Amino acid sequence: MSKQLQKRLLELREEIATHNHNYHVLDRPTMSDRDYDRIYSELLEIEKKHPEWVTEDSPSQRVGGTPLDKFEKVQHREPMLSLQNSYDADDLRAFDERVKKFLGFTENNDQDIEYFCEPKLDGLAMELIYENGTLTGALTRGDGVTGENVLSNMKTLKSIPLKLKTKKPPALLEARGEVLIYKNDFAQLNETQQENGQPTFANPRNAAAGAVRQLDPKIAASRPLKILAYSLGAYEGIEFETHEQVESTLANFSLPTLGIAPSHLNFKKWAEQIKKEIKKEKVTSGLARVCKNIDEVVEYYHFIESIRHDLPYDIDGMVTKVNRLDFQDRLGTIARSPRWANAAKFEPEQGETVINEISIQVGRTGALTPVAIMKPVSVGGVTISNATLHNQDEIDRKDVRPGDTVVIQRAGDVIPEVVRVILEKRPKGSKAFKIPNTCPVCKAPAERLEGEVVTRCLNPLCEAKLRESLKHFVSRKAMNIDHLGERLIDTFVTEKLISKFSDLYRLTYEQIIALERQGEKSTQNLLNSIEASKSIPLSRLIFGLGIRFVGEQTAQILAQKYSSLEELSKATEEELIELDDIGPKVAHSIHEAFQEKSLLQEIKDLEKLGVKPQASAKTPTDGIFSGKTFVITGTLPEKRGVVKELIENHGGKVSGSVSKKTDHVLAGEEAGSKLEKAEKLKVNVLSWEEFQGLLP
Ligand code: IVH
Repeated sequence: MSKQLQKRLLELREEIATHNHNYHVLDRPTMSDRDYDRIYSELLEIEKKHPEWVTEDSPSQRVGGTPLDKFEKVQHREPMLSLQNSYDADDLRAFDERVKKFLGFTENNDQDIEYFCEPKLDGLAMELIYENGTLTGALTRGDGVTGENVLSNMKTLKSIPLKLKTKKPPALLEARGEVLIYKNDFAQLNETQQENGQPTFANPRNAAAGAVRQLDPKIAASRPLKILAYSLGAYEGIEFETHEQVESTLANFSLPTLGIAPSHLNFKKWAEQIKKEIKKEKVTSGLARVCKNIDEVVEYYHFIESIRHDLPYDIDGMVTKVNRLDFQDRLGTIARSPRWANAAKFEPEQGETVINEISIQVGRTGALTPVAIMKPVSVGGVTISNATLHNQDEIDRKDVRPGDTVVIQRAGDVIPEVVRVILEKRPKGSKAFKIPNTCPVCKAPAERLEGEVVTRCLNPLCEAKLRESLKHFVSRKAMNIDHLGERLIDTFVTEKLISKFSDLYRLTYEQIIALERQGEKSTQNLLNSIEASKSIPLSRLIFGLGIRFVGEQTAQILAQKYSSLEELSKATEEELIELDDIGPKVAHSIHEAFQEKSLLQEIKDLEKLGVKPQASAKTPTDGIFSGKTFVITGTLPEKRGVVKELIENHGGKVSGSVSKKTDHVLAGEEAGSKLEKAEKLKVNVLSWEEFQGLLP
């Protein structure tokens, strides 16, 4: 019995690892979240019964454990070096010349050196240590000789395998790469920071570095950290001939990498393909490329520079590595940089301009955000005229004043930021800027609360808050009301047609068409969208209310538990804390929001006006399959998702793996190992026809 359970445990670990790899590295999920949760809880159950079986490489060990007192300092087996820099094509050609000369290629020897090229990632360097295939350490670069072991933080990244995917792991393999936050994740992270009254991060690199250095792994777990591996430290029990082999092996071992361009694609075809992927907003893979000679390297450099802003993460140049490792060995290292590698930086993307004024924007939560309004300037091909100054602390730190000439840059490629003030150009008589203590929109008092960096307008009826709240309420992820742009919202508010959410549902055709620039068609379209929003899922309405700390995910959790806003409004804090992923802070905020009489009135009014959101489907418990667990395998005439829904609609559950607990295996054509396993465990196997026969 115990043997079997132990076997099951190993099976579950493998399945979870495979899913993590498919989901987080390949971006090709093969299992639903629900199935994943199911096998994960099965694993936890077994480990709870047998704590002696818990190993360091179990997926259960990813979630942030107890905070550390400090990180252990560890010496790198191989120092982490820096790279010599180039700034243009000529520099790259000079690098090629140096390499050839050092290797003893004579001047009229026209033999080419093959280079491995890839983007230079703008994150922070990390070394993942695998001993006999198991992740045992994760070191920061530190001073290059000694780093800090941040293993507990790095384990929270689901894209990092806890075990290398190979039957014969090498005795030692140190994979080096860059820890990053992708641009879209970064934007979302800052949005959440702002909603929670926390300071925003200047760029993805800072946010990533901050998370890696936290002693509490829960912080790392809560940040969208990713890693891409691109080289090795020390290794034993494995051999390579080229750097290309190194990176393809890392990928085969299931580590995330940039991916190598397939050798059969010529440069033009490859570049076209990459551009296509970028257009489709796919995470591009196959960005690294083996270049036959320095001309190809230069071509690659220009191409990467041309697409750098379209990549999902920040890069600050291109790295060129001599592909043959025997050449690398011969070239060796000088002054802490290898002779065989080079970092070609891109044109700096900074610009100089003048701040005309510092204006204050009022957000949905009433946060007063200072924004520098500048004389428009082109930086890296993009015209910039605004830059956020974040908060008072930031303004003080940089001593930014209206009238100042400043250096700006496109931080993290997305948000322009003020780097520094050029003091020599400061006009006489300039004054330090202070965020006002009244709201610039409604003139009510604004205050910076204890322990917060943000100053907030305290007036709940502030027009700016209303405008921003409405924008949030109608946004795509909330009520999804189309044809209602910012301009129209502003008009509705200034014309006093809307002063709360429910007013949207009171708008009449006559009122809308009377507004400037409103045609018959757009008016009807808007009314149709408003009508359609009345029956959206409850979770969206909850999210749309804009309660502090209630993001999309929390809204979904709430919608699963409560079937109406009214029910939710009566929940006690204690009850809310009981829910998954809802802590005391969030519970308090939800409870407090519903103490507000105006919100309770809104809920009543919305209902009266016909807003009847759909409660989340709760699994029926009385279907013909209730209490039965299915596993689907092989090819079926219907899509997996459809079949799954069919089973669930009849009260059954669908799991990803066959176990004793499985009641039926639904086997289509070419069913493989799962069918075998079902037969071994004597689980009932259904053909498609038999399955259909069971349905009412
Ligand atoms: S290879 C000798 N490849 O750049 C170092 N490094 O300035 C060989 N970096 O510490 C490193 N992207 O943190 C390599 N594709 C890439 C890289 C990369 C970023 C960083 C790395 C290194 C620093 C050197």
